[in-house]
Amino acid sequence: MQLEKNIVTYAPGLETDSEIDEIRALGKDYIRLMSYYSAAMLEIETKFKVLSIEFNGKFDRNPIEAIKTRIKTPHSVLEKMNRIGKPVTVESIEQSLSDVAGVRVICSFVDDIYRLADMLAQQDDVSVLRVKDYIKTPKESGYRSLHLIVEIPIYLSNEKRFMRVEVQLRTIAMDFWASLEHKLRYKKDIARTQAQDIARQLVACADAVAQSDQQMLSVRQQIENAKAME
Ligand code: GTP
Ligand code: MG
Repeated sequence: MQLEKNIVTYAPGLETDSEIDEIRALGKDYIRLMSYYSAAMLEIETKFKVLSIEFNGKFDRNPIEAIKTRIKTPHSVLEKMNRIGKPVTVESIEQSLSDVAGVRVICSFVDDIYRLADMLAQQDDVSVLRVKDYIKTPKESGYRSLHLIVEIPIYLSNEKRFMRVEVQLRTIAMDFWASLEHKLRYKKDIARTQAQDIARQLVACADAVAQSDQQMLSVRQQIENAKAME
C-alpha cells in the first residue's frame, strides 16, 4: 500500500527498532502530516523554478544552480523533539518544528540569494515568519547561508492548510563548504586541542570561500559594466 511505502521513504534505515515503534504509534496521521509538508515543499520548489525561468529570460543567465528538497527523517524528527523536550505527537511535531520540509536553493552569485529571497517574500501567498542571515553574520563554525522560515497554503480536497517550510539559500561555494564540513563533523572523537585547531582551519576555509564568492560577483559585475559601455 502506498502509505505504508511512504514510511519507508521517510525512514531510510537510520531508525532504531524503538524509533520505528514510536513512529508507527503515530499511525497514518504522521504519514498524512508528512504528505502535507511534501506538498508545501513542492509549492516552494516550483516558485523558485518559475522565478528562475523568468530571470533567465530577462537577464540571460541562470541565478539557480540547483534546488534540493528533503523531508526530515523520522529519526531526525524524534531526535529534535526529544532534544527540545516536546512530546512526540503529530500535533506537537507540527507546532514545534519549522524545518520538517526543507528547500535548499543553490545560487550562482551572492546577490542572487537576496534577489530570490525578496522575490519569494513579495508573493502574496507567502509569509516570511523568520529570517536568519548567516551570510551577514556567519555562524561560529564559519557556516554561511540565508535561512527563511516561510508559510504557504496548500489546497487539499476540502481544506486549505498553512504549512511552514525552511528555505536555505546559498552559493555553490557556500554549499561546497557546508557539504564537506557536514561530512567531517561527525568523525570520531578527537582531543580537544586538536579539535579546536580543526575548527579554526574550517573557519579559515569558510572565509576563503566567502572571499572567492565576493570576487566572482565583482568579476561578473565588471563584465556586465563592460558590456554596457560597448
Ligand atoms: P537545528 O535544530 O539544527 O535545525 O538548528 P536551528 O533550528 O537553530 O536552525 P539553524 O538556523 O541553525 O539551521 C539549521 C540548519 O542549517 C542545519 O540543519 C544545517 O542544514 C544548516 N547549518 C547550520 N549550521 C551549520 C554548520 O555549522 N555547518 C553546516 N554544514 N550546516 C549548518
Ligand atoms: Mg534543522
